[in-house]
Amino acid sequence: MAKRQINVALIGYQFMGKAHSNAYRQAARFFDMDVEPVLKVICGRSEEKVKHAQHQFGWQEYATRWEDVIARNDIDVIDIGTPNNTHAAIAQAALKAGKHVLCEKPLAISVDDARESWKTAVETGLINGICHNYRFAPAIAYAAKLVKEGRLGKIRHFRGVYLQDWIVNAEVPLVWRLDKSIAGSGSHGDLNAHLIDTARFVMQSEFSEVCGLSETFIKERSLLADTDGGLSGFKSSSDKGTVTVDDVTSFLARFDNGATATFEATRLAPGRKNHNRWEINGEKGSIVYNQERMNELEVYVTDDPDGLKGFHLVQATESFMPYMSAYWPVAHIIGYEHTFVNMIYDFLTCVAHNKQFLPDFEDGFRNQTVLDAVDRSCISRTWEKPVAANI
Ligand SMILES: NC(=O)c1ccc[n+]([C@@H]2O[C@H](COP(=O)([O-])OP(=O)(O)OC[C@H]3O[C@@H](n4cnc5c(N)ncnc54)[C@H](O)[C@@H]3O)[C@@H](O)[C@H]2O)c1
Repeated sequence: MAKRQINVALIGYQFMGKAHSNAYRQAARFFDMDVEPVLKVICGRSEEKVKHAQHQFGWQEYATRWEDVIARNDIDVIDIGTPNNTHAAIAQAALKAGKHVLCEKPLAISVDDARESWKTAVETGLINGICHNYRFAPAIAYAAKLVKEGRLGKIRHFRGVYLQDWIVNAEVPLVWRLDKSIAGSGSHGDLNAHLIDTARFVMQSEFSEVCGLSETFIKERSLLADTDGGLSGFKSSSDKGTVTVDDVTSFLARFDNGATATFEATRLAPGRKNHNRWEINGEKGSIVYNQERMNELEVYVTDDPDGLKGFHLVQATESFMPYMSAYWPVAHIIGYEHTFVNMIYDFLTCVAHNKQFLPDFEDGFRNQTVLDAVDRSCISRTWEKPVAANI
């Protein structure tokens, strides 16, 4: 029997455009799905570049205005992979037009905009999701399961760092990620946002208060000659502009479950490329995850016999672990792109069965309230609480 088709439109065709396009193409090849995604239209501002992306990624059509895409009657899902300042407007307009929406993180660049997107999602009753793709790394989903089953006992600490070095060179120009009016914040919203989601997901607990520290080391950079640049291949102009976001943001946190936590995000750590590494300590053991070795977990359990105590390297590729039965025999490893394939599989399954997808816009909103509380704390130099989660 022919499967129900879900027509997808993707806004944005660069880094996340490529990751999401690949995921829509691969999801039904690996997972046994009730529905078939149709890559209907990809949208971006430059006609020449979006046309190239249409052919390279395998979309049926291209468009240059997201408003035109949302107005179409034949689109079921709008997927947002554009810079941060556009997320709220596109998401709200898409929901109001009756589309299910998957939005890249962050949900917005302010708490108020994020709340409005969450409210619109609740009011329209459509399926909504925020792309915290690391939740869909089998190792992280499995770690969350171990914590939920109580294998670590009561959780006491979460310790996360997300370190990169792609802007350590002062010659890297003022890309949109360094402009507060577009990005909202720097390494904080870019990288800490992922750690915040991971901590909430793995511990199933909310942040109660935070205390932050932030710095911008390289305060001026060359302006971009071509504003459509992604993470590389930039062209600089001879004019200079001011960096308006943080280079590093670190913070302390307390959680509702009593755990204490530390977080650090920077894109100025020479040698660190995508060092998304965190560790969780409970009364009965610890788990360590490092995105650069995403197929493994380091696990320590206190009730191992004397003489055999130590961190065990656990292959997170066993078929009984989340998502892994869709892939290869154990230790035939998967990669970064599969986090998106797993996420898209879950999202389309939720659309097909009208079920809530997680993480949803409420998660996006809660994430934004933590980012915001840290920003306020960096200014007030005191502990701050996230604003209440209500709409
Ligand atoms: N989940 C993750 O791990 C992850 C990783 C990278 C980026 N992101 C998020 O994805 C989003 C996009 O990041 P990216 O790295 O793909 O950026 P990018 O700069 O590589 O690509 C942005 C795309 O948006 C398009 N665009 C910009 N303004 C537009 C508009 N008004 N209308 C239509 N298209 C427009 C650009 O043409 C480009 O195709 C950001 O919000 C970022 O935070 C998430």
